[in-house]
Amino acid sequence: MLLSKRRPYLLLFIAFLFGASALAQDWANRPSTEARIEKLLKQMTLDEKIGQLNQYSAGSPTGPGTGRKNYAEMIAKGEVGSLFNVTGAQVNVLQKLAVEKSRLRIPLIFGLDVIHGYRTTFPTPLAMSATWQPELVEKAARVAAVEASHDGIRWTFSPMVDVSRDARWGRIVEGAGEDPYLGAAMSRAYVRGYQGASLSTADSIAACAKHYVGYGAAEAGRDYNTTEISERTLRQTYLPPFQAARDAGAATFMSAFSALGGVPSSANPFTLDTILRKEWKFRGFVVSDWNSIGELIPQGIANTPAVAARKALTAGVDMDMEANFYHSTLAGQVKNGQVPLSVIDEAVRRILRVKIELGLFEHPYSEISQDAMLTPQSRELARTVAEKSFVLLKNQNVLPLKSGAKVALIGPVADSAIDMIGAWAGKGDPKDVVTLRAALERKLGPSMTYAQGTEILTASTSGFAEAVNAAKASDVAVVALGENAVEMTGEAASRSDLNLPGNQEQLLKEIVATGKPVVVLVFSGRPLILNWEAQNVQGILEAWHPGVEAGNALVRTLYGENNPGGRLTTSFPRAVGQEPIYYNHFNTGRPLKDIDDSRPPKNHSEKFRSRYIDQQNSPLFPFGFGLSYTTFTYSPVKVSNTSLAAADINRGASKILVSADVKNTGSVAGDEVIQLYVSQTGTSVVRPVRELKGFQRVSLAPGASKHIEFTLGRAELAFWNIDMKDVVEPGTLSVWISPSSADGEPKTIELK
Ligand code: NOJ
Repeated sequence: MLLSKRRPYLLLFIAFLFGASALAQDWANRPSTEARIEKLLKQMTLDEKIGQLNQYSAGSPTGPGTGRKNYAEMIAKGEVGSLFNVTGAQVNVLQKLAVEKSRLRIPLIFGLDVIHGYRTTFPTPLAMSATWQPELVEKAARVAAVEASHDGIRWTFSPMVDVSRDARWGRIVEGAGEDPYLGAAMSRAYVRGYQGASLSTADSIAACAKHYVGYGAAEAGRDYNTTEISERTLRQTYLPPFQAARDAGAATFMSAFSALGGVPSSANPFTLDTILRKEWKFRGFVVSDWNSIGELIPQGIANTPAVAARKALTAGVDMDMEANFYHSTLAGQVKNGQVPLSVIDEAVRRILRVKIELGLFEHPYSEISQDAMLTPQSRELARTVAEKSFVLLKNQNVLPLKSGAKVALIGPVADSAIDMIGAWAGKGDPKDVVTLRAALERKLGPSMTYAQGTEILTASTSGFAEAVNAAKASDVAVVALGENAVEMTGEAASRSDLNLPGNQEQLLKEIVATGKPVVVLVFSGRPLILNWEAQNVQGILEAWHPGVEAGNALVRTLYGENNPGGRLTTSFPRAVGQEPIYYNHFNTGRPLKDIDDSRPPKNHSEKFRSRYIDQQNSPLFPFGFGLSYTTFTYSPVKVSNTSLAAADINRGASKILVSADVKNTGSVAGDEVIQLYVSQTGTSVVRPVRELKGFQRVSLAPGASKHIEFTLGRAELAFWNIDMKDVVEPGTLSVWISPSSADGEPKTIELK
């Protein structure tokens, strides 16, 4: 088959010798590629150069933009560099126009939003982050790449590596949550999975780290809103997952819609040029977000398309997605001297570099094949990832369910295939989904009764009675509640209310009133407020939107064939008013200390604190939290040194070894996610109360224990100090090895 013919054996051999990561960026600096680029550039007219910078959605337009339709003619004239939203045989038809009709035969690059799987739908990215297993995410991304590339796609607009600390933001579902360290690990995993051992392999697809940068900090959690991020926080919190993508060799970046401190991210020379190109030496290309160059006008930094195009291009946005401003204005601006030709040339170089390295010039056409889609192995992987992503939030002797018990399956999500495939399912098809109802019926037959009870968003209670009767006639009620995946999560789906939508909680209250034990399965794309549930039901499992194998994964989990071991990667608030809420916040001068904030303050010293008078500071469920069907104990933390020189760590000459023993003290096997946190005082700037700096997910048999080791060196301990230098400073370092961000006893180390 075609794939094997194209595989560059030499590269694979080198990858084998040095490990795939050593190869991650070799595409960026190959002399033969650079020579080809220069040769081509010399032959290109100005219009052909600008042509490479234009990208259009060839499918039905899904947002604002120009809606240009004469692609065929434009492609033949060499006026299009990329198309997206077109798949399958049509890709090759359009490619043929570029390769056979355009003067220089430069192939198009076809992109698409392949976000959590292509045909095989995996859990949403937020759910996948809850596995704390980058190696699984890499495998899922690999499957997505193989499937997408067999449908004509060689470029995905993924991973979204925006750190988000605000559950109101609908796009929190597309990322890895609130932590930059975990986010960076997931970022690398996606890039490796998509791009494989070499970009030029036919089943590799170019990754696109988005949305550069800070988009996840949208004020008030409202999508597309502006952001205010200090340079220190930008560098410490928002940039690391992007830098990780770059280091893993991501071929492209996408500039964000949002403005950062008054400068739109799609026209920001500091982030796009100073940091990305000069500091990080990124040599791939940057594509704008959908019409984000056009949006510079309503944002107010350009009054004409020409100014918008000029600002975006000169800042470092190489490709214009859908605004059509590069196409309509750049030629004139080069001719009248407002845009230097050298800037156009550089953008063209970056785009050609990726096209050449993808092997598009040699192999412009894709082998379209359905055989690659939704294989039994991919399904199996989707089920494993889903099982590993579930987070057990409460369990009062109700899970796993007892075999033989009569089960009432209730709720609007229990049989909803569309909600299982999540916010952005690519070519995912609800028809492929195994719903919870289907899987449970297969297991239990007549021992299960199903009642929908209500819809996700309705005021009608007409289904309540049937649901209550079903609960009464059973031994246990499993209630599947949550958010509508497509409408309520993802882009343009910010919420100001984080409760279960509609009357689902009201239904739940009636089920609980029957006195039967109740397990709530929460299907959501974000942290929801589950205060009442946490008080009143026996079991809560956060199931996210788990993908094509949802039902099978859930039934295996309900019956203990899978012991849930996922951990939260976002804080679950008690109230919307706590947002943005995240574990790695800075110390204040008025910390709560030992004050009980579960009741209003009683006196001055309780009141004048950094706190609410009507709510606790802590989340209901913290970052890193998750239960299991078994229990684990942690030995006290051991450190290799209790005192050492910060300067030695800074120059890479010494490291601290941190370890603990973790034991499975229960009666079943289970997974534990062991987390390493640090915090430092005595520093030149305020440091977070805790920061994740390592993690390991381990499986332990009952009674088994494992010695867990982490190292802390420059990479883990440096931070952006008062002089905006990334250094390890002296001070008192606390380290925890703990099961969550809110647990464990620290050990201190003096950095001198
Ligand atoms: C807009 C979204 O913000 C971005 O994530 C996506 O990749 C593009 N549209 C293309 O669909």
